[in-house]
Parts: sequence; C-alpha cells; structure tokens
Amino acid sequence: MSSASPPGHWLFGHARLFRRDPLGYATILARTCGDRVPLRFLTRRALLISHPQGIGEVLVGKSRSFRKHFALRLARPALGDGLLISEGSTWTQHRQIVQPAFRKEAIASYAPIMVEHATRLVDHWQDGQTLDVHLQMIDVTARIVTQCLFGTELGAGADEAHAAMAILTESFKSRLDALVHLPLILPTPANRRFRRAMAGIDGVLGRIISQRRQGPPRPDVLSALLQAARPDGTPALDDRAIRDEVATLFLAGHETTANALSWTHWLLARHPDCQARLERELDETLAGRPPSLADLPQLPYCRQVIEESMRLMPPAWIIGREALVPVEIAGALVQRGTTVLMSPWVVHRDRRWFAEPERFLPERWGDGLAERLPDFAYFPFGGGARSCIGAGFARMEMALLLACMASRFRMTLAPGARIEALPTITLRPRWGMPMVLQARSSPVPTIPPPQLRPNAPARLAT
Ligand code: HEM
Repeated sequence: MSSASPPGHWLFGHARLFRRDPLGYATILARTCGDRVPLRFLTRRALLISHPQGIGEVLVGKSRSFRKHFALRLARPALGDGLLISEGSTWTQHRQIVQPAFRKEAIASYAPIMVEHATRLVDHWQDGQTLDVHLQMIDVTARIVTQCLFGTELGAGADEAHAAMAILTESFKSRLDALVHLPLILPTPANRRFRRAMAGIDGVLGRIISQRRQGPPRPDVLSALLQAARPDGTPALDDRAIRDEVATLFLAGHETTANALSWTHWLLARHPDCQARLERELDETLAGRPPSLADLPQLPYCRQVIEESMRLMPPAWIIGREALVPVEIAGALVQRGTTVLMSPWVVHRDRRWFAEPERFLPERWGDGLAERLPDFAYFPFGGGARSCIGAGFARMEMALLLACMASRFRMTLAPGARIEALPTITLRPRWGMPMVLQARSSPVPTIPPPQLRPNAPARLAT
C-alpha cells in the first residue's frame, strides 16, 4: 500500500480542503496519493485508507484496537449512547437485546408492512404531479421503521419528526465543519434550534415508549428493550438507555434507506434504458399487483439496481475509527489517537475493482461480481462486528419499495431541479429531489432508448 501526504495549510492542515468538498477531495487524495494518505485536521492526525485489505484490518482483523471516531461522537447529543456510538459492554449487551428483531424470520414478517406503506404512498401520487421525492422517501421509511420495530403508526408525529431531522442534519454538519465546538448548552440560535429539534423527536418517540409501557408487550424490539432484565430480575436498561436505542434505530433506520431510494430514483431517471429494463422485469413478474417477499428472487434486476445505486451513491459515504493503541495496518504503524477514514464513495469508484466505475451499470452485478470482489471493495453497510444491524432489513425494504413505486410510476427530474450531494453523516440530496411523476399506463418500449447525456455536476455524472 503506497503512502504519501498531500500539501496542507500550516495551521489547519487538510481540514479546510476536506470540509470544502469532502467527496471530491477524498477521491483525488486516493487517486493521487495512494491507498494510505496521512492527513491532519488542525491538531488531529487522520489517515485515509482506500485499499480493501487495510479496511478489512481496521473493521475486522484489528477492530479491537479501534473505537468509533470523533465525528460520529458529535452525534451523541442526538443518538445518546445508542448502538451506533456506544462501545464495550454497553454495546455488546444492547446489540444482543436488539439483534432478534433483525433475524431472517423477523425481517420476513416486516415485508407486508413495508408493502402496505409503499402502496399507501403510491396511491396518493398523481400523474403529472411534481413532488420532492426525497421527502416522500423520508416519510415512508420513517413510518415503516416505526411500525416494524416499535409496532405502532408514526401517525401525526411524522411531520414533527421530519422537521426535526432536517435541523439535526444541518446542526450536525455545522458542528462537523466548526473547528471549535461550542457546548450545546450555550444559548446560540443554532443550539436553540438543535434543542427544539431534539425535543420534537424525543416527544414523538417518548409517546411511543410510554404507550407501550401502558399496554401489553408485543414481539418487537421496543418490548425487548423494555423487558430486558438482569439475572436478578431488575431492568437491564434505564429510561435514558431505552430512549437512546429507540432514537438510534429510528434515525439510523430511515434516513439512510431514504437517501438510497432517492438516489436510486435519480439514477434511474438519468438512465431510461435501465428504467425500461426494470419496468419490464416488474411487469413480467408482478403484472401490476403489489410485490411480496416471495417475488424478490424473481426480481434480480431490481436488486441489482439497488446495489449499483449504493455503489455510486453510498448513503454511509464515509466510515471512521480512532486508534486506541499504536497498531500496524497494512504493514505501517498507525499512531494512537489517529482517526482512520474509509470511504465507500472512494473505494466503490476504484477501477481496480469496478470496470468503468463512474457508469451506472446495474447489470454488472448480474454475473457473480459480488462473489468475485475482494472483501471491502464494496461495503455500503460497513463490516465486522460493528456492521449495519439493519442491512437485511434495508435491502428488502428498498427492493419492495422500488418494485411498488416503479411498477406504477416513472419519474423524471423536474425542469430546473438542482441536484447536489450533501455529505454529512450520510449522503443526502442537499436541495431535495424534485421529480415529475408519470403514471405507467402505457406499455413499456421493448427496445431500450439510448443513454442520457450526463446533465449534473461532474462528480455526480454516472
Ligand atoms: C441503505 C440503508 C443503510 C445503510 C447504507 C446503512 C449503513 C450503515 C453502516 C455503514 C453502518 C456502520 C457504521 C460504522 O461502522 O461506523 C451502520 C450501522 C448501523 N445501522 Fe445501518 N444502514 C442502513 C440501514 C439501516 C437500517 C434500516 C437500520 C435499522 C432498522 C440501521 C441501523 C443501524 C444501526 C443500529 C447501526 C449500528 C450497529 C452497531 O454498531 O451495532 N441501518 N449502518
């Protein structure tokens, strides 16, 4: 693995360049400086690792030498000590409590809920309507995660939760960008907005938790959290811990999936040949009826579209760890305290693993590519013990939702739509995703039309 440090500012190091254009800068660094790029963010040492082998060592082989990185810990005011951030025995114990809700059989039982919510959504859509598809995806995925994991309708809490989410994302981004982090307790306008947003989310989730406390237990993750007990019979989780896990599952369980679906619609709109092939597959398999879990094996192209979308627009575009001890990674020493950054956005665009990496080619996944790739050449859900607990949930949800939506509507970008990726903790469309809906009553052409010319900023060209 090669290693070279790019020139940086004498005081800020590489912080300003990284902050200005994280996706572009990380990509250029990996291409020009190699698989192992030492960086400095003010006083913080960092290392960008872009080779699957080194990434595997950090996430799996030597994972005990690392903890979650500082940027993720900045999300602690929102996520508390939930699964995404917690470490050590808290993480082990809580993951064991939550894990059964993500077993194969449990996930299979969520499929009808997912289809019902997607059908409800699409039933409201109208031919010729222009709407922000990203907001629609946020809404439907929030409702789905709430019902699947907490056994209740998000209902009227949805608007409150969505407004709060937007503020939380914005607040996280500015805290990430700030070189000095003012304590959230200071009454700055941004901090007040943040606290109001948190109160909004906590209000919605608090209502869900207290309703369950008053009713009978159910076979879902919320009851598992409430009922978890120590060997002496006392509750294993206090109120704060329950709130943190519920907030983490709610936030991590819908924002990423919503982003992935929004980017998928965008990519399909830019590639009418892929859109047409998907529609043909859906028409042949479903013939207009809603999909079910049993249909997914007959919808390989639909699943390939999703994998290819997560390759190019990975919702978790960067994963970070902090070295707890000096540790050798790919033959070189990483000092204690160093932040190791690993970017699916960068690695998924590496031509050593993907031919024509910038092109959206769902069919590339058709001939066993996933099995041929080295581990961690494709890692949208991370890896190792801290990999995404919701990967199976998300993959099924995305396939079912895409099948529901693309069976009934085709989407094109609204005229003048400004599409830009905003890389914060996730990769979301900065200005939303305004699209025009076209009801699919007409038969799908059998000869695919030619590829669209790229019409978005260079780094989003696919
Ligand atoms: C396309 C959708 C999704 C993507 C791309 C995604 C990605 C990821 C990634 C990369 C991680 C690891 C982060 C790290 O190593 O620091 C992660 C962790 C996590 N994800 Fe997801 N995720 C998705 C959907 C979901 C869903 C649907 C849920 C829950 C319903 C979920 C819950 C979690 C939780 C709780 C963790 C922390 C796991 C732990 O450390 O034990 N995610 N996710």
